[in-house]
Amino acid sequence: MKRSIPELQHSAQPLVMVTAYDYPGGKHAQAAGVDLILVGDSLGNVVLGYDSTAPVTLGDMIHHARAVRRGAPDTFMVVDLPFGTYHTGVQDAMRNAVRVIQETGADAIKMEGSSPEILQVVQTLTRNGIPVMGHVGLMPQTATAQGGLRVQGKDDAGARATLDGALALESAGAFSVVLEAIPARLARLISERLTVPTIGIGAGVNCDGQVLVTHDLLGIYEGEEKKIAKRYAELGRAAREAIAAYAADVRAREFPTRDNAFVMKDDVLDKLY
Ligand code: KIV
Repeated sequence: MKRSIPELQHSAQPLVMVTAYDYPGGKHAQAAGVDLILVGDSLGNVVLGYDSTAPVTLGDMIHHARAVRRGAPDTFMVVDLPFGTYHTGVQDAMRNAVRVIQETGADAIKMEGSSPEILQVVQTLTRNGIPVMGHVGLMPQTATAQGGLRVQGKDDAGARATLDGALALESAGAFSVVLEAIPARLARLISERLTVPTIGIGAGVNCDGQVLVTHDLLGIYEGEEKKIAKRYAELGRAAREAIAAYAADVRAREFPTRDNAFVMKDDVLDKLY
């Protein structure tokens, strides 16, 4: 059963959010009983093979979010507005957010940042009935300007800016705020100060909820485990081994077997011969 925003905001337990990018991803997340699904623009990195989220388009997000929605019709779904789709003015942001809601069935959109321009967008969208999830700390869409993909909020100015940004997003109407890659004690302070739930990734255990990129938690890519994630499965290795086993069977003519083949009557075949 899909949870409403007030239910999410008053959850007795930590909120669970995972990313999904397609129909099976949505189906598995819903069956596992998560509270929220995020169709993140991490799509660019983990599905489309880009080395950043910057090239992801609104069309990409809509295409993938529609598939997720078909797999998870009963789970609260948040869709990222990608880079450039809410930076060119409030009207453009409004138009793009409306497209996401109308064309994907999303329950909310997410956007990164807390500059005065972004706050104005958040205020306009929320006043017009579009729920917005904010995002502070590390913001991958503009990571170059933040000095790369690194922890934020460690010094006086950074910690203050992150706290003020989260508070301002709440005042602008955000129903929840993602805290990415900030020190755990700063995340705890922000979570205490905000009345809306914080959802952490690389922000310690004292947030009101947690989000992980599904490809990280499923181990779809082999290699070193990220500090901010935990791998609960090794699907990448399982996939590689399964495909290699299939290749070996084909080369040894051990697949397909008689059980995989269709039969025909002798006389039909005889006539062909
Ligand atoms: O795009 C994404 O997956 C995200 C999460 C990391 C919060 O924004």
